Amino acid sequence: MSTLILNNNPELPYAMEEALNSLRINIGFLGNDVKKIMIVSSTPNEGKSFVAMQLYRQFVQTGIKTALIDADMRKSTLVAKYGMELADGGMIKGTSSVLAGDCDFKDAFYKTSFDNGFILPNVENVVNPSMLLENKRFEELLNYAGENFRYTFVDSSPLDLVSDGERIGSLCDGAILVVRSGVTSKSMVRHSAMQLERAGCPLLGVVLNRMGSSKGKYYYNKRNSRYYTASR
Ligand SMILES: Nc1ncnc2c1ncn2[C@@H]1O[C@H](COP(=O)(O)OP(=O)(O)O)[C@@H](O)[C@H]1O
Ligand SMILES: [Mg+2]
Repeated sequence: MSTLILNNNPELPYAMEEALNSLRINIGFLGNDVKKIMIVSSTPNEGKSFVAMQLYRQFVQTGIKTALIDADMRKSTLVAKYGMELADGGMIKGTSSVLAGDCDFKDAFYKTSFDNGFILPNVENVVNPSMLLENKRFEELLNYAGENFRYTFVDSSPLDLVSDGERIGSLCDGAILVVRSGVTSKSMVRHSAMQLERAGCPLLGVVLNRMGSSKGKYYYNKRNSRYYTASR
C-alpha cells in the first residue's frame, strides 16, 4: 500500500505545542478502555480538524500506534490543508468510498512517514453522509480501528445541524468538545453536552480553542479538572 505524504505540516508555536502536550498527557490518564475519541464541536470552524490532527501527531510522535479518521464527509478539510498525497501518485481512497464498500478496512488506513501513524482521509464530500454513517459498515470500521490502534481520533461534523455527530459519538468511547473562544455560546455548549449524553458518548473534556494569546489557555478535563488551551 502506498504511503500518505503530508506536504504541508507547519511547526506550531512552542506554547501551543505545550498545550497540546498537556492534552495528550491527560488523555493518557483516561485509561485503557478509551481508544476511539471523537473530536467534535457545536458549530463549524471551531477547530475540530485542527485539534484532531494535532492530537494525532502528538501521539504518533510519542511512538504510540495511532489513527486519524476524517469522518466529516460534509466538509473535509484535511487533505487540502495538510497537502496530503500518495507517494506513488495514485488516487487517495477516502472515508466515503471506504464506507461505500470500495476497499477492505485493512487497506483503508494509509501508512505515513511514521511507522505508527495511520490516516484515513476523505476526498469526496457527499451530500448525505448520514446514510453512510448509519450503515453497519461504519460501526465495523470503528471496531477495526479500536482493535488495531491504541488511539483513533475521529474528526467529526459539528453537532448543530444534523445527527451525524451523535451517530459518530454513539460508536466512540468518548468525545472531546472543541469550543471556539468568544464565539460559541454557553447554551450551545450545554446543548452539545446534552446531545453527547443522549448518544451515550462520555464527554472526556473540553478544549477552549482559538483564544487570544494574552488570555491564556485551558483545557478542562471532567475527571481531574485540569485546564489547558490552544491559543491562536
Ligand atoms: N488553535 C488554533 N490556532 C490556529 N489556527 C486554528 C486553531 N484552531 C483552528 N484554527 C484554524 O481555524 C480554521 C477552522 O478550523 P478547523 O479545524 O477547520 O475547524 P472545524 O474542523 O471545526 O470546522 C482553520 O483554518 C484552522 O487552521
Ligand atoms: Mg473540520
